Amino acid sequence: MRIILLGGPGSGKGTQAGFLTRRLGIPQISSGDMLRAAVREGTELGRKAKGIMDSGALVPDDLIVAMVGERLARPDCSAGFVLDGFPRTIPQAEALRAAGVVIDTVVEMAVDDEEIVVRMSGRRVHPESGRVYHVVHNPPRVEGRDDETGEELIQRADDREETVRTRLAVYREQTQPLVDFYQGLAEAGELRYARIDGVGDVEQIRERTIEAVLPA
Ligand code: AP5
Repeated sequence: MRIILLGGPGSGKGTQAGFLTRRLGIPQISSGDMLRAAVREGTELGRKAKGIMDSGALVPDDLIVAMVGERLARPDCSAGFVLDGFPRTIPQAEALRAAGVVIDTVVEMAVDDEEIVVRMSGRRVHPESGRVYHVVHNPPRVEGRDDETGEELIQRADDREETVRTRLAVYREQTQPLVDFYQGLAEAGELRYARIDGVGDVEQIRERTIEAVLPA
């Protein structure tokens, strides 16, 4: 089970990756969460990435490819993984392929821009675990607190409307070409490609995602 979740900022990749991880027992590899952890820990990578992330631009491919490559080499990835936020450019996708990583399914989550802006303004996250909530659509059991640890939830620095609009433009320019890239590989029989409507309640999208990765 080697899965890529592909979609714009706020399309629900992190939310659905969390469900898939629990359902399939495979790790969620979120490049965004890994970078935010590096920023919190003040590593060299974190220092390089912070300003770029806050502006809504993408961190350079070589840094990302090295970071994710190292993570995928760990033993817990041997039975599969859910990639959330990686690859995000054609060079990243090519590097993954060149490293011999076989992907079974790419799920594209389609959500329009205005819905995304609304979602981001209500998003709250638990920084340590990456668990994600929404004040209206996916609220924690206790307002402002993580369900599992009870710790405080925060709003991400890059969730301001202006930055979200920059991230949407970056997605269209640098990440959307991956749709054709992976559809081409699906046509060649290398993997399965599924595009799902990412609008609807979280449970509905969960059903669509499960159906896409485990077709009947
Ligand atoms: P990253 O953390 O990957 O951000 P992103 O791709 O922009 O995606 P998000 O995490 O914002 O959204 P999501 O799709 O996971 O949605 P979520 O489930 O949270 O990247 C951040 C930055 O790091 C980048 O800008 C870049 O600088 C850098 N970076 C990361 N990876 C990189 C890479 N590979 N290369 C280069 N740079 C990289 O949902 C959003 C909200 O909506 C939540 O509040 C959620 O509760 C709610 N929600 C979810 N589903 C629904 C639903 N069905 N209905 C209503 N609300 C919903």
